[in-house]
Amino acid sequence: MDAFSIHGGQRLTGSISVDGSKNASLPLLAASLLTNETVTYDCVPELSDIANMGRLLEELGCNVSRTDDKVTVIAVDETKSHARYDIVRTMRASVCVLGPLLARRGEVRVSMPGGCAFGDRPIDLHLRGLEALGAKIELDGGNIIARADRLQGATIFLGGPFGSTVLGTANVMSAATLAKGRTIIESAACEPEITDLANLLNAMGAKISGAGTPRITINGVEELGGATHTVMPDRIVAGTWAIAAAMTNGDVEIERFPLDHLLAVTDVLSTVGVHVNQTDTSQDSKCCTVQVVSERHLKPVMFTTQPFPGFPTDLQAQMMALLCLSRGNSIITEKIYPERFMHVPELSRMGAKLVRQGATVIVQGVDHLVGAPVMASDLRASASLVLAGLAAEGETIVSRVYHLDRGYSKMEKVLTELGANIKRIPDDQIIDGLPIVETVPAKKLVQTNR
Ligand code: EPU
Repeated sequence: MDAFSIHGGQRLTGSISVDGSKNASLPLLAASLLTNETVTYDCVPELSDIANMGRLLEELGCNVSRTDDKVTVIAVDETKSHARYDIVRTMRASVCVLGPLLARRGEVRVSMPGGCAFGDRPIDLHLRGLEALGAKIELDGGNIIARADRLQGATIFLGGPFGSTVLGTANVMSAATLAKGRTIIESAACEPEITDLANLLNAMGAKISGAGTPRITINGVEELGGATHTVMPDRIVAGTWAIAAAMTNGDVEIERFPLDHLLAVTDVLSTVGVHVNQTDTSQDSKCCTVQVVSERHLKPVMFTTQPFPGFPTDLQAQMMALLCLSRGNSIITEKIYPERFMHVPELSRMGAKLVRQGATVIVQGVDHLVGAPVMASDLRASASLVLAGLAAEGETIVSRVYHLDRGYSKMEKVLTELGANIKRIPDDQIIDGLPIVETVPAKKLVQTNR
């Protein structure tokens, strides 16, 4: 497993551009199962999760091809409907093939996703939604088996104890496009990735209105056709780069920045003393160029993660890394995944002063962080450790960077372009999570000493 070696303290400067969104791409790619015509996607990021989704679609009878950031999918064998455990266990988001397969092929067998590094992640709301559309669902040998001759439109409430469900909304909305009659999803997820999916589905011939609001209406159609779609920029990657700039007191221009999708984040950043300014106001603020500059002394802040348009859970860890360097006490409350704090003990190893009480962490700002060997067991926690490493004194080794490869395309290359001192250490040069230190052979040492 590769690691990153980071020598902190370099101020990030320069210009970068944000890739297409991972979390939008996954359900978008799954939507290609709803037709036997070609669906073409532009701006698909090059990530291991996307490669896994490509493999899954191939197993499900699709031809998938990629040239640069363009991906083309066509379903050529519609008899296959089994998403195997081997793939689902590498990527929970495989569950988003459930709705499209059920609607188009009438039967689906998807391995039940297990728990995840940051706690229980049930899919009861997905199943409840599909049952409301008339699916018969059973569990057999760790698989969810869902069947339906033709789904029937229904009114479905998708609210759960932590708000709505993003992939659950994607599943039910995708399935309802081919249902007979009208479906209303109440308490739907309002995340921009849902709007992006609805835009693709409508381009394929679906009749969806209200995406991006808590009530989505879908009038079922007989069939869907091919389409071409450009994936929206990744708001979590964009936010991570903005925080990286701030961590190093940098001055960075970010192109394709989805400012409109990050207002809760830029609001918190501006309280902290980090300013994200759109440089050309004639551009669409969903995909524009911004300049990130920060004040010398950062201020503390209090924030809570929430469903969109609130502060995203996927940027909580990165913001915590930044607040470690503010002057005063910040309070962070996690309302989506109350256990999503694997970065806390690792940041503490780097000198952060953090106190966790349940779903809340109090961050006591420190003057500086110090480099250390660290590791995390999920994507965003790992990102926060890289950010901390960029600002820390000395060397930080972040191991298990395969987590980062799931969600950040060539992270070390982007950061190097901005002036960071970061390099990837391949697996064969690592023992017990640490790079093998090159030593001078003993014999040579003796000779030199003479
Ligand atoms: N929940 C239920 N029942 C369900 C589904 C969800 O109780 O059937 C709960 C979850 O346990 C959680 C909350 O509802 O407390 C929200 O979960 P949601 O279903 O919205 O999460 P998801 O759709 O599985 C997506 C992203 C996550 C992101 C969450 C929340 C993708 C591929 N994943 O997951 O992204 O954290 O929405 O915004 O879109 C990441 O990129 O690092 C990541 C984890």
